[in-house]
Amino acid sequence: METQILPINDNSIKFAAELLKKGEIAAIPTETVYGLAGNGLSAESVKKIFAAKNRPADNPLILHISDTDWLYRYTKSVPHPALKLAERFWPGPLTMIMPKNGLVPDETSGGLNTVAFRMPDNKYTLKLIELCGFPLAAPSANLSGLPSPTEARHVYNDLNGKIPLILDGGSCSFGLESTVIAFTEKGVKILRPGGVTPEMLSEYCYVEIDKAVTEGIGEERKALSPGMKYKHYSPKAEVYMIECVDNDQFVEFINKNYDKNTFVLTNIREEIRAKTIPYGSTSERDAAELFSVLRKADELGAEKIYVKAPAKKGIGLAVYNRLIRAAAFKVIKL
Ligand code: TXA
Ligand code: MG
Repeated sequence: METQILPINDNSIKFAAELLKKGEIAAIPTETVYGLAGNGLSAESVKKIFAAKNRPADNPLILHISDTDWLYRYTKSVPHPALKLAERFWPGPLTMIMPKNGLVPDETSGGLNTVAFRMPDNKYTLKLIELCGFPLAAPSANLSGLPSPTEARHVYNDLNGKIPLILDGGSCSFGLESTVIAFTEKGVKILRPGGVTPEMLSEYCYVEIDKAVTEGIGEERKALSPGMKYKHYSPKAEVYMIECVDNDQFVEFINKNYDKNTFVLTNIREEIRAKTIPYGSTSERDAAELFSVLRKADELGAEKIYVKAPAKKGIGLAVYNRLIRAAAFKVIKL
């Protein structure tokens, strides 16, 4: 199959809507990462998404909606603080898990009796959902296991020949996937950190952070969010996250432990003898650039990547969560 890339605009979303109505799938831009979209109410469309990504069937998809009222169409009930959170954070990087009703196929929810919802913050993508008239199921548009795509060409590199269309909306402004929350008796639990931070949610309700956000999930612990148990965001190179007290310690470690195929993701350039890729400034920029620098390291032939551990505060928590997975939990504490 030939994969077409079209800039997203009023014409291309009409074309995309026709494809999606026929049961086809297409990659779409959002403010977080590119998604691989299909009709979330159609088991057949959803199966195409899983096949193209090579995604395990028990890893559920997010339904992307353009109108908060749609929550009532596809759930048994809308949990208490959900509407308040939707009003404050939608459209935006917040995904909320709710009990699903019979209109949502088990293929979409990975066999669970809950389903996740998000309203993406991209005006054309929202219009596209309206044109379709059904929610778009969309996981990140990468091959399962690789870093999520933040540019149309990342999607093309992973899925060329496997999907008919990529709508190009430029670089994703936030760059990491949405915050995923489940509702608890007391408030909410963060299953995956993202652009809507624990600090931001705390202004509206009680917030817990699932242990799996910063730690691995042992065999004994069942993942609340199935996606958390899989190897994730990994470039081909082996990533090591370095926890250290200051830059001097970091530089000293690198200069003792590098070889010709080692790349360091850092903005400390002069003192480091290994090859570097510029990275590491504000948490916003780190979030926006992380997946793209991981892909770049692969393109440059990196075998080993060293990167300093980010602080686990605010958006830094999301960056930490993706990095520790990219590193397959290999953390070196100095
Ligand atoms: O920003 C995003 O969320 C992007 C864009 C495209 O919207 N999408 C995305 O989808 O990251 P995906 O499929 O790559 O990640 C969805 C995560 C997975 O970890 C999945 O296990 C979890 O959400 N999830 C989805 N439905 C769930 C449910 N019913 N219960 C628990 N976890 C759920
Ligand atoms: Mg993903």
